[in-house]
Amino acid sequence: MSSTLITNIGSLVTNDPSHPGLLGLVEQAAVVVDGSVVTWTGRAADAPAADQVHDAEGRTLLPGFVDSHAHLVFAGDRTAEFNARMSGQSYSAGGIRTTVAATRAASDAELDANLARFVREALRQGTTTIECKSGYGLTVADEARALRIAAAHTPETTYLGAHIVAPEFADDPAGYVDLVTGEMLDACAPHARWVDVFCENGAFDGDQARAVLKAGQERGLIPRVHANQLSHGPGVQLAVELGAASADHCTHLTDADVAALAGSETVATLLPGAEFSTRARYPDARRLLDAGATVALSTDCNPGSSFTSSMAFCIAVAVREMGMTPDEAVHAATAGGARALRRTDVGRIAPGARADLLLLDAPSPVHLAYRPGVPLTAAVWRAGVREV
Ligand code: NIG
Ligand code: FE
Repeated sequence: MSSTLITNIGSLVTNDPSHPGLLGLVEQAAVVVDGSVVTWTGRAADAPAADQVHDAEGRTLLPGFVDSHAHLVFAGDRTAEFNARMSGQSYSAGGIRTTVAATRAASDAELDANLARFVREALRQGTTTIECKSGYGLTVADEARALRIAAAHTPETTYLGAHIVAPEFADDPAGYVDLVTGEMLDACAPHARWVDVFCENGAFDGDQARAVLKAGQERGLIPRVHANQLSHGPGVQLAVELGAASADHCTHLTDADVAALAGSETVATLLPGAEFSTRARYPDARRLLDAGATVALSTDCNPGSSFTSSMAFCIAVAVREMGMTPDEAVHAATAGGARALRRTDVGRIAPGARADLLLLDAPSPVHLAYRPGVPLTAAVWRAGVREV
C-alpha cells in the first residue's frame, strides 16, 4: 500500500483534542495517509517521508463533511411548491405526498441514478459521509427498495416509513403505524442502521412516534427523530428518553427541551437549509451550545423543504443567522455529524481515522462562512482515494 504526504498545509483542522482550540488547528502542517487511513499529523517541518507528495500550497485541509441527515431516494422535484412558498404560501408536511407519488412511479434504475447523482454532487462539495433516509415510498415494497438502493451508496441508511401516514391509510393512521412497526419493519430492518420518525402535527404524535422507535430498537435499529421542526412537540423529549443518537431540526424548543439535550448523549442536529427554503425561523444554536448540548449541522437534502447538498451553505447560514462562530459551525459539520452518526473514524484528522479529507482553496476554515456561495473545493479524498 502506498503512502502520501500532504504538506505545506496553511491551516489543518484536525478536531483532535491533542491540538489547540475547538478545531485542533495546526498551522504549517502536514498529514500522512497510508492506504485508507491517516497515519500521521503535525508540523510540516517534522513530517516523515512518504511514497508520494502532494503540495497543498498553503491551503486549508479539514475532515470531509459528515452530512448526517438527508432524504435522497426520490423522484421528481417540487419547484412549483417552492415557487408558491416564496410567493407567500406556507410549508406543510403534506407536500411530502407529491414526492411519494413520483417516487412510487419511478423504476429502481431511476432512483439509483438520482441518488448517485446527489451523492456525487455532495462529494464534489466535500461531503465524504452521508446519511440517507427512506420515507418517500410508504408501502412495504417501496420502503424496502428505497433502503436497498440507499445501502448500495452509504452504510448510514435510515428507515423512515413513519415520514407521514401513507395516503391509503388517511382514515386509519393506527393501521399505518401497525404496518410501519410490523411487516414494513421486517422488510426494511435488514437494509437499515437507523430508525426515524417525523414527530409533528400532520405526521405522527408522541405515542405513535414512541411505538415506531421502540419497534425499530427491538429489531436492532438505533433511533433518530425529526423533532420540533414546525412546532413545539414531544419529539425532543422522546429522543432523549429513548437514547436516540440525534434529535433533528430542534427549531421550536422549550428550556426543558434544551436542558434535556444538554444532559444527554443525544446530538441536536440543526438543518438551516430547511428554514431557509421554507422561510421559517432558524433554530437557536447559541442557546443549545451555551447549555452544553452537542450540535451537528446537516443539509436535510430533500426535494421539498431543503433542496441543497451544500454543507458550506449550511455553515454560512449557521454563522450568520444562528449564533454560531465559524469554528463552531465547521466543528458541527464535521465532528458534530460524526457524533450524530456515532462514528469515531470520520469527522477528524488524526492517526487511525479514515482518510476523508477536504482541501479548501482558502487560507483558513473561516472562509467557509466568509465566502458564502463560492466553490472552494480544491480536492477531496475519501478513504484515501482522490475523488475530486
Ligand atoms: O426533514 N420533516 C420531514 N421531512 C423533511 C421534509 C420532506 C419533504 O418536504 O419532502 C424534512 O424537512
Ligand atoms: Fe429531514
